[in-house]
Amino acid sequence: MIYLNGAFMPIEEARIPVLDRGFIFGDGVYEVIPVYSRKPFRVAEHLHRLQDSLDGIRLKNPHSDAEWTALIGQLIARNEPDDQYLYLHITRGVAKRDHAFPAVITPTIFMMSNPLLTPPQALLAGGVAAVSANDNRWLRCDIKAISLLPNILLRQQAVDAGATETLLLRDGFMTEGAASNIFVVRNHTLLAPPKNHLMLPGITYDVVLELAAAARIPFEVREVSEYEVRSADELLLTSSTKEILAITQLDSKPVGTGKPGAMFAKLYQLYQDYKATVMRK
Ligand code: PDD
Repeated sequence: MIYLNGAFMPIEEARIPVLDRGFIFGDGVYEVIPVYSRKPFRVAEHLHRLQDSLDGIRLKNPHSDAEWTALIGQLIARNEPDDQYLYLHITRGVAKRDHAFPAVITPTIFMMSNPLLTPPQALLAGGVAAVSANDNRWLRCDIKAISLLPNILLRQQAVDAGATETLLLRDGFMTEGAASNIFVVRNHTLLAPPKNHLMLPGITYDVVLELAAAARIPFEVREVSEYEVRSADELLLTSSTKEILAITQLDSKPVGTGKPGAMFAKLYQLYQDYKATVMRK
């Protein structure tokens, strides 16, 4: 069951006018929220980022956080799996095609749930391969915009090379992945690029830094150079659907030993423990 503009329905019944600005221009924003054991994970943080994305494209939030939370609860209840990932999508709505937007327009609100399949044991044990590419996206990567053409083309480069993710470099520094945040490990220290307009402020990124701080794992939030990436002991990627994965190959070369390292093992375990405590509440 999906949610569209005020009603729940089977996805086959959902209809959108072709003049929706999401369809015509990619004029909208989205969120992806993981659900574990029927409980949405970090929902307040996701709704906060949604508000920032809406502000970033000058679209009024159609719902209060309480209303969103109620809708999210209903969507979870109407779908089967205990572990789901929710996709929330808000476009500016339907209007005659014109780049500039009308003063009064009703947004389109769409939500769906899919089964959340976190990475299988083989990926956790072996890690994944990544390729690097020049980050050729716009300069508002902090907005979770539905117009993802650059991200799609960048991710496809990884798939074409038999890899999982594309690590993005801009002006000699790492920004993030095509659909994930990336951490670098050097000398037992976790390095994270600072949250700014060049990357999406990941919810999982925040969790990882909080866990590192609580466990007294040394970390630095600062710009990370391409040299530091290429000579890293470990590379880690994070996202709501992939949680934490080790990148064990970059551009066909082994990262560190070529196997998931100690920092990955530690953070992965901390993340699972944290999830378990949150779910028990
Ligand atoms: N993508 N950076 C980009 C460009 C992303 O698309 C994502 C997530 C992240 C990680 O953010 P978070 O930890 O909040 O999931 C970073 C989602 C999962 C997607 O588009 O499907």
